[in-house]
Amino acid sequence: MDAIALLKKDHETVKSLLSRLENTAERAVQTRKKLVQKIEQELQVHTAIEEKIFYPAFKAAGARDEAILSSEAKEEHRAVDSLVLPDIMQTSPSSIEFTGRVKVLKELLEHHIEEEETDMFPQASKLLGKQKLLELGAEMEALQKTLKQGQQAKAA
Ligand SMILES: [Fe+2]
Ligand SMILES: [Fe+2]
Repeated sequence: MDAIALLKKDHETVKSLLSRLENTAERAVQTRKKLVQKIEQELQVHTAIEEKIFYPAFKAAGARDEAILSSEAKEEHRAVDSLVLPDIMQTSPSSIEFTGRVKVLKELLEHHIEEEETDMFPQASKLLGKQKLLELGAEMEALQKTLKQGQQAKAA
């Protein structure tokens, strides 16, 4: 699978988990906990393959605009990983605060995904070309597999 198709597939997974989470009520404590955990795991792997493989390749193939886009995207990852998600995980799933924080998470991620798919990916496709995207896709798939195995080992 090429790098962009792989990332878009992850985006669909995360968007669907976010919609499911948004549609839960305060009484669905266990479901909320499970979905947040699943989203955290998905994001960990997804941001890692982007930051370790995709963004550097995009930046290297481009110039100032590409460097800015990569840097902006990384900051958005950081806002989610180190602020919004940890806050949600410390909030009682039966509270209205949780519901509000989930809305913020969903909006942030949807905005981030939208920017990647409409600005970064078309530009990456132009700059990198089909062959390079396939190579990056294979590299990303391998890292994804390793990271997911690590998560499973930790959970077991
Ligand atoms: Fe991203
Ligand atoms: Fe992404």
